[in-house]
Amino acid sequence: MTTVGVIGLGYVGLPLAVAFAQEGCDVVAVDLDARKVEAIAAGESYVEDVSNESLGQLESRIHATTQYAALSQAEAVLICVPTPLTRNREPDLGPLIEATRALAGVLRADQLVVLESTTYPGTTRERVAPLLEESGLAAGRDFHLAYSPERVDPGRTDHTLRNTPKVVGGLTDACAERAHALYALVCDQVVGVSSPETAELAKLLENIFRSVNIALVNELAMLTDRMGIDVWEVVEAAATKPYGFMRFEPGPGMGGHCLPVDPFYLSWRAREFDMATEFIELAGKINQQMPYHCVTKAQRALNDRGMSVKGARVVVVGVSYKPGVGDVRESPALKIISLLRELGAEVVYHDPHVPGLAEFGLTSTPLEQALAEADLALIVTAHPGVDHELIARRARLVVDLRGVTRAASTANVVRL
Ligand SMILES: NC(=O)c1ccc[n+]([C@@H]2O[C@H](COP(=O)([O-])OP(=O)(O)OC[C@H]3O[C@@H](n4cnc5c(N)ncnc54)[C@H](O)[C@@H]3O)[C@@H](O)[C@H]2O)c1
Repeated sequence: MTTVGVIGLGYVGLPLAVAFAQEGCDVVAVDLDARKVEAIAAGESYVEDVSNESLGQLESRIHATTQYAALSQAEAVLICVPTPLTRNREPDLGPLIEATRALAGVLRADQLVVLESTTYPGTTRERVAPLLEESGLAAGRDFHLAYSPERVDPGRTDHTLRNTPKVVGGLTDACAERAHALYALVCDQVVGVSSPETAELAKLLENIFRSVNIALVNELAMLTDRMGIDVWEVVEAAATKPYGFMRFEPGPGMGGHCLPVDPFYLSWRAREFDMATEFIELAGKINQQMPYHCVTKAQRALNDRGMSVKGARVVVVGVSYKPGVGDVRESPALKIISLLRELGAEVVYHDPHVPGLAEFGLTSTPLEQALAEADLALIVTAHPGVDHELIARRARLVVDLRGVTRAASTANVVRL
């Protein structure tokens, strides 16, 4: 039986640990956060994609710990720690370096190490390998090393780890073969590429592709606003083309751990090669502008009714960065709430997935109560299960940033 180690038990690491355990592997799951370790041991999931029930059933197979020493039992170790940006928007490899150093301290010959965290091309070979080699073991000779990007889309049920092809690039052919065999346990299709760098860049291309296309349609939304054209109808019409067009929706900007962050890993790396990645920068600029545009839109909607933002009671509906999840990292809703407060609005929010927003001293208000009291309902994230038509009917004024009230064409609704 294979023993798999997972370092970093977040949105990526915990579902991976569960997937390997469900295939009969013993899993050593390491996280610095003792609360997460305790929660796993108690069968309490803190990630939407993992149910308490599945975690409870795997209790005997997942050994969660804060101690790296336990990883020496594993045949393979997957690194899934965060790769954020610094305040200056440069790659912050701090957590990765810390995790890799700690792993080097317990690494043993013949283990396979796979980096799953999203990062710039060259990280596995130039940063991870040398740190692991401080163990005295040589990468590609004494232990195997590969990169395999995570493609999980939290909250999604149609594309899972099992049926989403997994890209793998090994330091050597033998590294690639080991990694391929490991992922074949949990994925139907493993796609081998010639190097870790190719796999690292493939992941960035996927996310940059989304970021650029979202920016394109967001820029269009700002233009259609001036032109008096309904952007949702434009997108709908263009999407009837059966080839050569892919639908992207406008919205209040990008959130989450990935899209606002990952592209800048590449633009940073590109500077070493005397390249400015202009698409990435431009997309980032446009997407960052969207919360400001959305607040202006809300301000105008209030103004048209003889009201100012100052003193207006606003309920923000949906504060996580995407539908169906409770993750508020980099969520544009946070920026929008700050901007509204700066303008003097009294802001409350409703989000069935986010019980509290400590940084604003707010807790989720029941929808009907919030609607009864609010001057404006601002739909920022459209969770399934939230009755947006009810919002369109009940709220005095609605600004819909997600196009979910299109069926209810009432005079009190303004859309992005
Ligand atoms: N969340 C996603 O949808 C997603 C999708 C694809 C790829 N990724 C990438 O996967 C990586 C992890 O993302 P995530 O969303 O799971 O992050 P996360 O913040 O949810 O989880 C990371 C975990 O790592 C732990 N950690 C940090 N430093 C550690 C250390 N030195 N040793 C042990 N544990 C440590 C943290 O406590 C945390 O529990 C990132 O590179 C991210 O870009 C994320």
